[in-house]
Amino acid sequence: MNKAAYDFLLERRSVLIQHLSKPGPGRDEIGQIMQVALRVPDHKVQGPWRFIVFEGKAREDFGTEIHKAYLARESKPNEDQEEIERGRFMRAPVVIAAITSFKEKPGVPQSEQVLSTGAACMNMVNAVAALGYASQWVTEWTAYDDTIKKAMGLGGEEEIAGFIYIGTPSVTPKQRRRPEVRDVVSYWGE
Ligand SMILES: Cc1cc2nc3c(=O)[nH]c(=O)nc-3n(C[C@H](O)[C@H](O)[C@H](O)COP(=O)(O)O)c2cc1C
Repeated sequence: MNKAAYDFLLERRSVLIQHLSKPGPGRDEIGQIMQVALRVPDHKVQGPWRFIVFEGKAREDFGTEIHKAYLARESKPNEDQEEIERGRFMRAPVVIAAITSFKEKPGVPQSEQVLSTGAACMNMVNAVAALGYASQWVTEWTAYDDTIKKAMGLGGEEEIAGFIYIGTPSVTPKQRRRPEVRDVVSYWGE
């Protein structure tokens, strides 16, 4: 048994974005994280995902697009919120968008392709923690906004599964309440 690996999986926690500080992973480490992201179950080897990394100034630059999208969806924009939207991707050193790029393949419904992208996100979250960083996987309004999707260069058929915000944890998160195994698992026939 690999007890260290088991304990790692058992104890890992997300860290809220506001507690993700500098430094974030560098390009080599981002590459390592993505290597793990790609080792996911993928029915018929379709690779129904792609990823966009926002780091450094790109986060600030994309803030302009988020701000535009905010203005497009809000009939009464609020100046404080506008500032928040400009800085949305600046909240952590690295932000990685995970995108489902649906493939047409008999026997591989879109739902499975979304699941595979979700598995890639979870692998990223674990790989980030294994490298000594922390992350939070969020969607917020930005994952579902057409203006944002267009600004990111997504095709009409693509969907955002989430944004993985990554940085160095500035707090140790408390454990979260989890369901009891017996409350959600049953053994067929008992
Ligand atoms: C698809 C998906 C979307 C999520 N979106 C958000 C979000 O928009 N805002 C948020 O606070 N948490 C969101 N979460 C929850 C956090 O990622 C995370 O589950 C929570 O902070 C506790 O994580 P842990 O169980 O890894 O410690 C989302 C989770 C998933 C799976």
